[in-house]
Amino acid sequence: MPDASTPPDAPVLFFDSGVGGLSILAPAKTLIPNIPVVYAADSAGFPYGTKSDAEIAARVPALLGRLVERYRPRIAVIACNTAATIALTHVRAALDIPVVGTVPAIKPAAIASKTRVIGVLGTEATVRQPYVDRLTAEHGADCTVLRHGSAALVAYAEARLRGEPADPAIPADALAGLLDQPGGERMDMVVLACTHFPLVRDELAAAAPRPLTFLDGGEGIARRIAYLNGDAPWPDAPPEGIAVFTRIDSWVEALTPALAGFGLTRVKAL
Ligand code: DGL
Repeated sequence: MPDASTPPDAPVLFFDSGVGGLSILAPAKTLIPNIPVVYAADSAGFPYGTKSDAEIAARVPALLGRLVERYRPRIAVIACNTAATIALTHVRAALDIPVVGTVPAIKPAAIASKTRVIGVLGTEATVRQPYVDRLTAEHGADCTVLRHGSAALVAYAEARLRGEPADPAIPADALAGLLDQPGGERMDMVVLACTHFPLVRDELAAAAPRPLTFLDGGEGIARRIAYLNGDAPWPDAPPEGIAVFTRIDSWVEALTPALAGFGLTRVKAL
């Protein structure tokens, strides 16, 4: 656990397959402005959402182990619903630091839903997870919980951060995957169960045929980081953030301006 003897520059590690974890990093930076950050993206393994559970379960704990060895973070955040719903237990067992997972915000959606119909928009891998069955049974037992996985929306969020043009058909199709299911006409809450999706929240809202509420776990995770940090010191000024990629190519180079917007000015290969 972090404590008063933790060096102020010991980073918080954020991990995702790609840029999705930036939607988790942003509220953390708002709550803790001087947070030292290592943002790791498994660009060589991207996308996770179309991979098998076995591939993700093998890949994620091994990568996090290497990252923790190299950067000695105070806390690790799995800023990816796919990785967290599949591998959180294994990662926690493998690491000796606190690990925060990002899991679908079904509980707050069920609390807030007036129509008792909730949509869960994630990756194909996330929406089939038993973890999601458990969250649904625990918190949304009296709700109809619709699920849809969209690999196209993940790729779209990445493309938008690389500065590629908008295509309103992609967010509209992703939402239609929920709205066109039986009960979809009554859905009032959409859980953004993939960290890439809050990055295109405004485009999703604009594509919705009627007002819908979009929920994600970013702010809750920021509060969890602050809580787990306890009285461990933070730096006196915002340090330069580090972005680490498992493969650096033109895809990563095109992301450099977006990364800088999140304070990630040093880009490295793992
Ligand atoms: N950002 C990830 C998530 O939250 C996964 C995207 C992908 O690699 O398919 O699920």
